[in-house]
This record gives sequence, structure tokens and C-alpha cells, in this order.
Amino acid sequence: MCGIFAYLNYMVPVKRQQILDILIGGLQRLEYRGYDSAGLAIDGGQGECQDNILIIKQKGKVAALQQEILEQKDIDKETPLLCHAGISHTRWATHGEPSPRNSHPHRSDDNNEFVVIHNGIITNYKDIKLFLEKKGYKFESESDTESIAKLIKHLHSCHKNNGVTFQKLVAETIQQLEGSFALVFKSTHYPGELVATRRGGPLLVGVRSKVQLATNAFPIIVSGGASQDGTYPDGKTVHPLMKQLSSDCTDGSDAMEYFFSSDASAVIEHTKQVIYLEDEDVAAVCNGKLNIHRATLDDSNVRELITVKMELEQIMKGNYSTFMQKEIFEQPESLVNTMRGRLNYEKGSVVLGGLKDHMGEIRRCRRLIMIACGTSFNSAVATRQIMEELTELPVMVELSSDFLDRRTPIFRDDVCFFISQSGETADTLMALKYCKEKGALNVGITNVVGSTISRETHCGVHVNAGPEIGVASTKAYTSQIATLIMFALTLCEDRISMTDRRKEIMRGLHELPEKIEKVLLLDERIKEIAEELIHERSLLVMGRGYNFSTCIEGALKIKELSYMHSEGILCGELKHGPLAMLDPGMKVLMVCTKDRVYSKVLSGIQQVIARQGRPIVICNPDDNNVHDMAYKVIEVPQTVDCIQAILTVIPLQLLSFHLATKKGLNVDMPRNLAKSVTVE
Ligand code: F6R
Repeated sequence: MCGIFAYLNYMVPVKRQQILDILIGGLQRLEYRGYDSAGLAIDGGQGECQDNILIIKQKGKVAALQQEILEQKDIDKETPLLCHAGISHTRWATHGEPSPRNSHPHRSDDNNEFVVIHNGIITNYKDIKLFLEKKGYKFESESDTESIAKLIKHLHSCHKNNGVTFQKLVAETIQQLEGSFALVFKSTHYPGELVATRRGGPLLVGVRSKVQLATNAFPIIVSGGASQDGTYPDGKTVHPLMKQLSSDCTDGSDAMEYFFSSDASAVIEHTKQVIYLEDEDVAAVCNGKLNIHRATLDDSNVRELITVKMELEQIMKGNYSTFMQKEIFEQPESLVNTMRGRLNYEKGSVVLGGLKDHMGEIRRCRRLIMIACGTSFNSAVATRQIMEELTELPVMVELSSDFLDRRTPIFRDDVCFFISQSGETADTLMALKYCKEKGALNVGITNVVGSTISRETHCGVHVNAGPEIGVASTKAYTSQIATLIMFALTLCEDRISMTDRRKEIMRGLHELPEKIEKVLLLDERIKEIAEELIHERSLLVMGRGYNFSTCIEGALKIKELSYMHSEGILCGELKHGPLAMLDPGMKVLMVCTKDRVYSKVLSGIQQVIARQGRPIVICNPDDNNVHDMAYKVIEVPQTVDCIQAILTVIPLQLLSFHLATKKGLNVDMPRNLAKSVTVE
């Protein structure tokens, strides 16, 4: 939704210009998360004097903020600062229109004593605001976040200079907050310190040190018992890392840098060592030491320092014009990565390591429920039929928001799948919490390692599509389908009656990357079709069976990228309403491949033609029946029925891409959308 990025250098001399570059660089990597305004806060003052905080904000993309910084001539950008804490944010508006006033960081007062950046929504901000207004605080924005900045100042003043730590103040502040958040605070009262915390929003800390850290596990300090030097109240436990960091080093070995971010992609160019914070963690850096506090312990008493596997080139555009284009063309490779080490075609085996320990329980379940939003939901639609066939279980597909609205009955012997590229989608996360309470077994199907859904579920599978930066999901979608098919295969491995079917599907998956390469060769042809459709008001996408998922997913891509109306229609429903829309002017695209419903789709094509429609048809090669009727054909290789939707969706991904590009729209950042929807 929004992007958070903060950088703290301790005993590492860094010029303000470099600090600004690091912050702006981080925001650029996060811009796909939200992009209607951006801002940052650094220490103001001249030279090394860090007595005030300078906030710079701008409406629009990060580039606008960058320009604004360039124009600030009176900032001393050259003097190196040995210890400094800077915070920055890119916003996707929820409360208040995009404007410098509503963008982050928000501040406590005219002196910028406390500044904060926030990802999420504070649902009780009106009550907090009312309370603070009565105390004389003047609000300057419509944002819910401003109430947090003012609340922390109020709590600070209540302590009457009694030496309260920054961490404690933040802990007290979040006790008053309702809603979801990831927050990073900075203050003139605590120069060189940062405090970060989360509840519902993703947040991680990247750690960079010249010396090898003494440990990979940061102990959690239960608040009330914390001391700044890392010594526990019982006097016994002094963590080796903290000992190291608190020692009076003079050789530079106490030099540390920390990067707080909502997403690992902003951090990996600086360090691969990260700690994923959990809900209610309060991570504070003071005197170059990172301490993680909590009011109460959760399942673990440490936070592991993890090495992120992501490579920089994975999050760069390379030779492509946009991330979306790169991600569409990466699909032969991303699908290989999804299947690597899992599907062994020669041996005829599929092993999903993340589910191994739970297979017994999954096999005994009474039904499977796939819960997701948007494109991830469409991957559930794409695989429902093969799940039903191979597992012989009832399979439900649910949109997370509707699932929650209905308070759908869930039982202990249900297995619930939470499918999410980002692993952070608020509706899906809430559905997960709901199913947890009901005692179901929860399985995560996510693309982002370390994401909340992957951590909160009992078990799961990473789809391993690699970082997806374009807001419109493409390669993650096809990898989700492949993952869910592999799951269905694992569940029927001991059924003799299904041996041939399993083999057929495995062969299909094995040959998939090669067939995708062939579909991608259609790019030029699809570009021409886009040229022809560009001025149309609407495009209906029709099909049935396995290809219905392609219709709804294709229509979603076209809508979100080109802003053209598009609707996915099940052919079987044509005569129950949609036929009324057909006239010679209505553009129709149909998906008709050689599977069990082939003749039914052919009859759908006939119905469209009978109403003077001129359908463009995605079909298998050399299909004379289709050739005879279609206005134009897009031929994709034939494959096993349950895999075909992976091949038929790619022309529609390309079509939406070309429609948007030809209209001059920003393909990677369509209007009003964000990559990771962490609010309801
Ligand atoms: C559309 C798209 C969205 C997401 C949806 C769920 O191209 O990307 O519809 O699929 O917002 O997001 P995740 O999969 O991250 O839960």
C-alpha cells in the first residue's frame, strides 16, 4: 500500500547528500507499493549540528520529491554525519487527497519534535484527535497518521523529562492505537535513534556491519525488563551481539547501519541480512544497538537474522521497457523456478517440502477452501476443477472480503488455502485470522518469503516466481496455478486409478516453459490487435471450463491497465443475460481450446456470430472449426486441459500491456492501485 524506508548510520560517516540518495533510492524501489505522494525527514541544522528535523514532502511520484530536494539550496549536503537517522515514505492515499500536507512524515508540532511514517490505517484516529484537540493540539492534515505523531508528543510531555526511553514511548503510543500499522519514528529528543513497530503491516530491518556479527538471533526483551545495554534484569543474560555492540570500540567495529523497510527489495542493495519483525515488536536503535522489545513474549524468544536470497537484477528492468513486460517474458523461467526441486518428471514424483509434515492431516480433511483476492482468486478459479478431480474433495473458492462478510462457517477439519502474491493483503490476512480462530488447518500460497501470510499459516508453499514489481500480477499468477496443480498431484499420489492422469499432467507441466516461449512469440500479432481495439469502449472475454479463469483474469488485466471496460463471461451464461449486449459494435474475444467443453464453446461462438459479433478467438493451432468462424485467431499450443489456462492467459496479459502502452499509460503503476493492499 504505502512504502516505508528508513536509514540509520552509526559511527559511519555519511554525507547528507548520500543519506538523501539512499532514502530516495529506497523509495524508488518501493514506489510500486504506492505512488501518489512521497516525503522524508532528516536532521536539519548546519554541519554536524542536528538540533532540528527537516521534512520535505511532495505530491506525485518519488521523482517529484527528488526534484524538490534538488531545489533546496540551503541544506548542507556535504558535511559527513557520523550518526544520523532518516525516514522516508511513499504514499497511496487512504485518508485525505494526495498532497504534501497529507503525505508522510507527519509531525507532532511546528518544531517537528516527533515525526512518523506509517503504512496502514488507524481506525480510532478520530477519538485520539478529539482527545488531543481538547488538549490544545492543532491538526494540519486529514491523515489518520498525524494523530500518532501528536499522541507520542503528548505522552512524552506526560513523562515530564524523566528520561523515558524512545522505545518505551512508542510502546505506550501503540497501546492506544487500533487498526493496522507499520510505523517508524524519529525525534529531536532522541537524535540518532529510530524506533519501528508493526501490527498487521509488513516491516523488516536490514543490518549492515563491517564486522561479523556475533550471532544471528536477536533476543526479544520483554518490556519493563529492558535495559539499554542489553543486560536483563536478572543480571544473567547478556546477549553476545549486544555485548559486542555495547563495548567501547575504538577500531570502528561498532560501526553499524540499519535499514527499515516494508519490503526487502529496498534493502538488498545495501545488505542481505534482515530481521522480519512480528506484530507488536518494538525495534529500537539507540547508540547503534538494535533491541527488539515486546510487552509479552510470542512463540519465539528471538528474532532471527535471515539472509535474503533476492538478487538485485531480479528487481531491475534489464532490457525491458517496464517491469510488467519483463515479468510477462520471464514466465518460462519463473515457472521452472516454481517447479524446481518439487516436480520430478522422470521419477513421476511431486514433493512440496512446506506441506510434507501436514499431508496426513490434509488428506483427512473434509473440504478444501481457497481464499484470495483479485488475480490470486482467479488462480483458485483456474485450479478448482483439477483439485476436485484429483482430490475427490469438495473445493470452495472464496473472495476474501465476501468470505468474511458472510462469516462463512468453517470447521476444524477444513483445510484453508490463502493465496496471495504479496502475502500481505489485508482481506486475505483477516480471513486467515478468522479461520485460525475456527481451528482449520491454514496453508499459505505466497510469493514473498517472510510475508505475513507465509508466517501466520501452519504450513505452505512459496510459489518462487521471483520478485514481482509491476502492480498487475502476471508471473505470480501462472506460478500460483502451477503450485496449486502440484498440490493436487501430491494429494492423489497413492491412487492407482489416477496414475495415467497424473503422468499426463506432469508431462504437461514439464513441457510448459517451452510452450510459453511459443506463446510469447505472438507478441507482435497481439500488438496489432491492441492497435485495433484501442478506441473501443468495451471488450467482452468469453469462455468456459478451465478457460473461464483466463476470461476473468484477462478482463481484470485489461481493466486495471488500460482503464477500458472489460468483462469475463462464462459461455454457459450467455443466454441468461449477456447476449443482450451483443451488437455489431461490441468487441468480443473468446477462448476455445480442445478440451471437454470445446463443442460447447464452439456453439457459444456461433451464438455471438448470429448476433453479428466478430469474435477474436484464442484457440489451438490449425483448428479449422474456429478458423471458419472467427474474425481473427490467436493460436496457442495445445496442452493438458488443466494447464491450458496458463497458456491462454498470456496473450491477454500481452494485450492489456499493449493497450495501456499505446494509450501512453503507466503500465507498472496504474492509477488508483497499489501492489500490496494492506488496508481493507
Ligand atoms: C491484479 C492484482 C490484484 C492482486 C490482489 C491480491 O493484477 O495484482 O488483483 O491479485 O490485490 O493481491 P495478493 O495476491 O498480493 O494478495
